[in-house]
Order: sequence, then C-alpha cells, then structure tokens
Amino acid sequence: MKMIDTHCHLNFPQYNKQRDEVIHQCFAQGIKYLINIGTDLETSIKSIELSNKYENIFCSVGFHPHDAESYDEDGIKSLLHNKKIVAIGEIGLDYYRNLSPRAVQQQVFRKQIRIAKANQLPIIVHCREAEQDTFQILQDENPEKVVFHCFSGDYNFAQEVLNQGWFISFTGIITYDKARSRPVIQDVPLEKFFVETDAPFLTPHPFRGKLNKPYYVRYVIEKIAEIKNISPNKIAEITTANAIKFFHLL
Ligand code: NI
Repeated sequence: MKMIDTHCHLNFPQYNKQRDEVIHQCFAQGIKYLINIGTDLETSIKSIELSNKYENIFCSVGFHPHDAESYDEDGIKSLLHNKKIVAIGEIGLDYYRNLSPRAVQQQVFRKQIRIAKANQLPIIVHCREAEQDTFQILQDENPEKVVFHCFSGDYNFAQEVLNQGWFISFTGIITYDKARSRPVIQDVPLEKFFVETDAPFLTPHPFRGKLNKPYYVRYVIEKIAEIKNISPNKIAEITTANAIKFFHLL
C-alpha cells in the first residue's frame, strides 16, 4: 500500500528519542508522504524544519484554537515563503476544552483563514463541540479549500460539510467510535476524504494506549475499506490521490 498520513505531529516531544527512526519506519511501511502539522509558532517552525530535512514530508503552519491567545500573525506570515508549506492549520474552534476564550478563538480562526486565502492555501480545521460557529465563520470567510481534520461529527453534519464542497478526514477514532462514524463513512464519496493519524494522539485499535505512529494509518484505511466494502489497497490509492490533489503535493 502507498499511504499518506495527512495529519501528524512528529515534531512533538513524544518522538524526541526516536524521531528519525519512526520516520524511516514510516517510509519502510508504505507511507508515501507525511504532512506534519503546526499548532503554534514554535511547532510550525519545527514542522518546517522537519519537512526541509525529508523530501517526502510536507507541513502546515498555524495556531490551534488551544493556543489562540498566543497568536502571532507576523510570526506566521514570516514563515510562508517556505516551499514545503501546503496548508494553514490546524486552525478552528474547540469549545470542549476552551483553553483560549471563545471570542479569541473565533477572531484568530478568521485571521488565519484570511492568510490562507491571500496565499491560496487550503485550511485544516480543528472543530470540537463548536460545529455551528465553525460553520458560520467558514461561510462568512469563504476559504478556497477546507478539510475537517479528525472528523467527529454525526451523519447530518457530515452531509452539511460535504454539501459545501469541503472535505473530511478520518483518524483512528473510527476504529473505536464505530456507531457514530459508520454511517458517515458509508456515505462519504470516495473523492471527498483523507486519512490521518493525528499521531502521537488517537492511536488506532489494536495499538490503542501505545504511542501512535503515522504508518498506523493503515488501520484507519482498513476500517474504511471494511465499511465501504472496497479493498484496502483501493482506499489507500484513492486517499493518496485525493491528498496529492488537495494539498498540491506534486
Ligand atoms: Ni492535530
């Protein structure tokens, strides 16, 4: 299988003792490309560094809603000349943990959408228990290309997202949150979704509880293949093609 993990955080300290080893394992285990995701200025810079070290790693830069209060617009803009940046993200709203005030999250989300538009970059959206406001801001700001990372909405919200022309992306959550994700997966058109790990978090079954690694995206692919009754190889091929096109990887 040739797979793309469209969302991982290999720059995080969980990999400090084994980062290069894990990356080599990824390519040995069928990973074609990785997209490493920024969550604030420091992690965005580290994402760029990692992508400059490995030809097949790309990156995104942006401020996660948890970090909205430390938003540094000039800092993010100063990074954008880097050629391996393929998206602004992860950005959005998180009303589950509320680590930054909601009004600040909303403002920072809007500002980063505008940066993405000005630079013709897709956005990677983090949305947790904030579906209505996320939807409203996206409709107001009208970014060019949108993916809902780690999609956790129900069937109806998935349909609303897809009706807007936006994409959804599945993590290992689908291997343990079956009742909610099954109808979403059943109906999502083949050309409208990606797969990801969000490593080091959300390790798929059967490795739940252990450190996640991007090549475990295989288990996300296998679960989708089972639900859609299509071979894992075909799902890998399609999701790889979808990601290459959406993020302009080539
Ligand atoms: Ni993430």
